[in-house]
Amino acid sequence: MSPLLEFTNVTLIRGNHTVFKALSIQLNEPRIGLIGDNGAGKSSLFRMICGLETPQSGTVRLSGCDARDANTQRPGKVGMMFQNPDDQIIFPTVEEELALGLSPSGLSRREAIAKSRVFLETRGLAHWAERTIGSLSQGQRQHVCWLALMIAAPDLLLLDEPFASLDLPGQALLSADIAQAGQQVIVSTHLLNHVRHFERVVWLDQGTIRADGPGHRVCAAYEADVATRTPEGIRLGQSL
Ligand SMILES: Nc1ncnc2c1ncn2[C@@H]1O[C@H](COP(=O)(O)OP(=O)(O)OP(=O)(O)O)[C@@H](O)[C@H]1O
Ligand SMILES: [Mg+2]
Repeated sequence: MSPLLEFTNVTLIRGNHTVFKALSIQLNEPRIGLIGDNGAGKSSLFRMICGLETPQSGTVRLSGCDARDANTQRPGKVGMMFQNPDDQIIFPTVEEELALGLSPSGLSRREAIAKSRVFLETRGLAHWAERTIGSLSQGQRQHVCWLALMIAAPDLLLLDEPFASLDLPGQALLSADIAQAGQQVIVSTHLLNHVRHFERVVWLDQGTIRADGPGHRVCAAYEADVATRTPEGIRLGQSL
């Protein structure tokens, strides 16, 4: 069987910056964390999986099929929760945004809106259905992005800094949802406690794989490295 997700000799240049140079990696585990400094390449990696970026050389394959073709031919296969909710949300109200995720399923607009309302009810958020996106806080918009992905139920979930604006209850809820999801989930985050328990975490460092292995080991290695680069007094271990 073809690996679920396979990068082979991928070179990606964005603007005049080489983000990845001959990157090769397979990502097959059900839960994978992606960590690393700002600019390491986490979002860029996700964008290639979604077909939003095309590498200058090398291949990105999903179940043996080129990522661009896979995303075109099967629009519901990969779902990405964007780092910035405003890059993801298209429609003016919550129920319409959720209904969008149901379009690959062939439901009529009316049916999709009805299903979105039922889904919001099951989440205790019926009162959000007709809320305009612009009236929601940043964290609430991030929550809507996650709900949109859940209702769309793609085979592969890419979550780019999904906890960044969520309050603590929201983070706990999302963590529980991730744990229960039946699909493969890849999570990029700076909040290491949300991926420390994952069977696999990949640490990206300026586009290269600095460490790759069990979450607790890779997160500890990253924290130890950060501690050597952090001024005395605000060391991660002391401040968190
Ligand atoms: N639109 C763009 N044009 C040119 N360069 C870009 C663009 N977007 C990102 N880059 C560069 O690509 C590199 C990787 O960026 P990327 O957004 O993938 O990092 P990241 O690991 O997701 O960082 P963060 O933790 O800040 O989200 C960075 O050096 C960044 O400056
Ligand atoms: Mg990013």
